[in-house]
Amino acid sequence: MGISSFAAQNNNMKVFQTLLTEISEGILTITINREEKLNALNAQLIGELSEAIDELYNNNEVRACIITGKGPKAFAAGADIAEFKGLTKEQGVVLAKRGHAVFNKIELSPKPVIAAVNGFALGGGCELAMACHIRIASENAKFGQPEVNLGIIPGYGGTQRLVQLIGKGKAFELLMTGDTIDAVCAERLGLVNDVVQTVELLEVCRALLHKINGKAPVAISKVIECVHAHFKDGIDGFDTEIEEFSNCVSTEDFTEGTNAFLEKRKAAFKGK
Ligand code: COA
Repeated sequence: MGISSFAAQNNNMKVFQTLLTEISEGILTITINREEKLNALNAQLIGELSEAIDELYNNNEVRACIITGKGPKAFAAGADIAEFKGLTKEQGVVLAKRGHAVFNKIELSPKPVIAAVNGFALGGGCELAMACHIRIASENAKFGQPEVNLGIIPGYGGTQRLVQLIGKGKAFELLMTGDTIDAVCAERLGLVNDVVQTVELLEVCRALLHKINGKAPVAISKVIECVHAHFKDGIDGFDTEIEEFSNCVSTEDFTEGTNAFLEKRKAAFKGK
């Protein structure tokens, strides 16, 4: 396939070495593409992921995102351990800060991001999934923060987001044992929203995003902002809700949404 035809298929998105990207029906799908290394997250991949996520922010045609892993075995089996050898304290700071910046960008995206977890989500892979707004797991998915086996702790937000999602006691247990749990256990703990058959994983994620994309986009972005406000130091999430509720009231979509209800028709939201 020539480069130009690939670019056309890819909606003119930059071609990455460690990721596959596709934009279809308003959904940007980012597939981690290091199958032979179980999609381990190396420095290049973290950099490319940051660039791919920029598309979610900057491309008006993109309304939502799915992040998944290539192949049947792994979403991402963690940070690339090969890059850990000889790491200095200073390099450790840089590594962790880079990961935090990218995962924060995913979490703070005003458009919804779903992790389609198709296998191992260990270490940085679990942290990546947790940075997404929603996690749907295939039946073969496995989760864990095994960093203590390597003499380290999670460095991409795992100690914080795991507590937020599953609570302190279970988070301590997973972080201290390094145990791997299956998808059913992850669902029971609230780590994933749903477990589905492997063959239908992406379809379920797309259907969920199409449903969300049918709602008022500004309202969706305000939901994301208000939920995050709950976890921000020094911020009263209830105050944020009052402010963002009133901001929604002044949108065209609010007028359209209420008119459509009263006129018994489907709302046609414009994101304004
Ligand atoms: N970093 C770098 N390479 C990794 C990796 C990681 N986190 N996880 C897997 N790989 C590589 C393996 O080294 C192997 O490469 P090779 O074929 O060149 O030797 C390849 O991916 C396949 O992995 P392998 O271990 O042979 O598969 P498996 O099915 O036997 O085991 C796991 C799967 C996930 C249990 C095992 O790969 C593992 O424990 N990975 C590390 C998980 C981890 O500690 N993550 C946190 C890192 S902070």
